Amino acid sequence: MLERTVETKPGSGTETKTWDAAVVGAGYVGVPLAHTLAAAGRSVLVVDIADELVAALNRGESHITDVPSAEWETLVREGRVRATTDYDELRDADAILLALPTPLSKQREPDLTIVVAAVEEVARRLRPGHLVVLESTTYPRTTREVIQPILERTGLEVGRDFHLAFSPERVDPGNGTWTTKNVPKIVGGITPACTERAAQLYEGAVDSIHRVSTPEAAELTKLLENIFRAVNIALVNELAQLCERMGIDVWEVIEAAATKPFGFMSFQPGPGLGGHCIPIDPFYLTWKAREYDFATEFIELAGKVNENMPYYCRSLVSQALNHGRQRSLSGSKVLLLGVAYKSDIGDTRESPALKLVELLRNAGADVSYHDPHVEELGEVGLRSAELDPAAHDCVVIVTAHSQIDYADVVDKAHVVVDLRNATGAEGRANPKVWSL
Ligand SMILES: NC(=O)c1ccc[n+]([C@@H]2O[C@H](COP(=O)([O-])OP(=O)(O)OC[C@H]3O[C@@H](n4cnc5c(N)ncnc54)[C@H](O)[C@@H]3O)[C@@H](O)[C@H]2O)c1
Repeated sequence: MLERTVETKPGSGTETKTWDAAVVGAGYVGVPLAHTLAAAGRSVLVVDIADELVAALNRGESHITDVPSAEWETLVREGRVRATTDYDELRDADAILLALPTPLSKQREPDLTIVVAAVEEVARRLRPGHLVVLESTTYPRTTREVIQPILERTGLEVGRDFHLAFSPERVDPGNGTWTTKNVPKIVGGITPACTERAAQLYEGAVDSIHRVSTPEAAELTKLLENIFRAVNIALVNELAQLCERMGIDVWEVIEAAATKPFGFMSFQPGPGLGGHCIPIDPFYLTWKAREYDFATEFIELAGKVNENMPYYCRSLVSQALNHGRQRSLSGSKVLLLGVAYKSDIGDTRESPALKLVELLRNAGADVSYHDPHVEELGEVGLRSAELDPAAHDCVVIVTAHSQIDYADVVDKAHVVVDLRNATGAEGRANPKVWSL
């Protein structure tokens, strides 16, 4: 094992150490992962290409809400975590964990460019004894068909010289109950020894480890979880549209069905999917399945229903304005309340609010938004406006952040379109409120 001298704190002297793990990618996945490992006593190096982010992390500032800066700062001060932009420092880590983005291309195909570029950097520093774990969500066989060949081009062999595994991150940003630490960790290595080595790294840091026989099983486990959500959300989104035609309250039906103690799991309709996972990951499987002459029809159908939701919601806003305010959408002032992709966080990636802004503007509406977690929506050139419901023809609740007083919003607004049941049964009974 290589050793080197590192500064624990500028001016505080030096100590000799290697890193138990290096986490590559300091985002929603990487920072909580580094935090969980370091809090369990591991020494963790964080590698990211963003200079400013690395500097902030080294000042003890965490940009991820689930990791409080106070806790991160203690770990930095104690020398248990440090961030760097220098891939060369990977040589000093025992394990390298990749927590990098896996987006879709414009043609909605897997885009592994970032992961491949990072693995090429890792390969240049690969040495006997290294453990490499991919944590990014991806299609089955990525670890074996994409990662392994790049690492083996070095002449080192997996299972003999180094270990390689896939272990999906299952974090749910903003979820205070289920965290990187207490959600079981799935681990599947190329060889049984690879699985064991990866499991040992997480043991003690996360509460439980679930070993699977291959990286493919681990890769597909993560996709199954996200596909399960996408399909069930599509199901209730379709039902919500039927309920509107039939004059049935979909929220009442879901609440009632949820009283069944077994065999039913509650999902809520909404304006469409958002975030880095559910709208994207299922299509990784769709793409790979084509290689096996297989069409993943549930995924395609769910995608179709979910992608139509912003269009359906625009028509709801239009109806609400027609009937509730005798106005057309064109020329109306519409305030979107909540634009993050889910409640109580500030992440707007793939948020359906972005699509709604576009659709409402195309119909001639004057659109603004209020979101206590999102100061600016650069993609559509808007900044969060004051919450003044009476100043708009219609308030559309797109994301239900918990600090908003919805009864007060309903009270002051002319017309409310509630896409999240934020106003509850009372709102649904109010003629001013149009619910999804
Ligand atoms: N966000 C989630 O809720 C979540 C949950 C489970 C799994 N995942 C999966 O985890 C993976 C990472 O997602 P995320 O949300 O943490 O991404 P993110 O965008 O929050 O963070 C990625 C980080 O990687 C850095 N980066 C980009 N290229 C790099 C490179 N070449 N070398 C080093 N750093 C680089 C970026 O600067 C950024 O800080 C994805 O595959 C995602 O699907 C995400």
